[in-house]
Amino acid sequence: MIANWDVKYETNISEIDSQHKKLFRLINQIETIYVENKGHLTTKTKSLVEAVSELEDYTLSHFLIEERVMELNQYPDLEAHKKQHDRFTDKILELKNRLTSKSLLTNDDELNVFFSDLIAFLRLWLTNHILQEDMNYKPYIKLVL
Ligand SMILES: [Fe+2]
Repeated sequence: MIANWDVKYETNISEIDSQHKKLFRLINQIETIYVENKGHLTTKTKSLVEAVSELEDYTLSHFLIEERVMELNQYPDLEAHKKQHDRFTDKILELKNRLTSKSLLTNDDELNVFFSDLIAFLRLWLTNHILQEDMNYKPYIKLVL
C-alpha cells in the first residue's frame, strides 16, 4: 500500500512539510515502478536505480536543512536527532550499493525481495521518524531559514 500524507505528519513548518511530502512522493515513485513491473524488474533497473538515487539525494539535502533549522532554534536534542539521520543515511548508502551490484540487478526474484523489503523499510522509517523524532522539535521551532 502506498504511503499517504496525513495531517498527523505536519510540523507546521512549511518548508519542512513540503520536503516531507516530497519524500513520500519519492517513496511512492519507487513503489509504483515496483508494483507495475513485479516479476520482470530486471527490465526496469535504470528507472529503479534512478528513483533510489533521487530519494537518496533528496533525503541528504532535506536532513541538512532540517538540522540547520534545529540548530538555529537551539533544539536541545539536536545531536541525538542528527545520529538518527546519519544512521538512516548509512543504511540508504548500503542498500544503494547492494542494489547496484551486478548479481542483484540481473535476478528478478532477488530484485522482487529487495524492493519489497526496501519499500516497507522506507515507509516505516519515514513515518516513524516524522511522528516520533520530528514532532519532538516542533515546539522549539520559532525561527525558520
Ligand atoms: Fe528528522
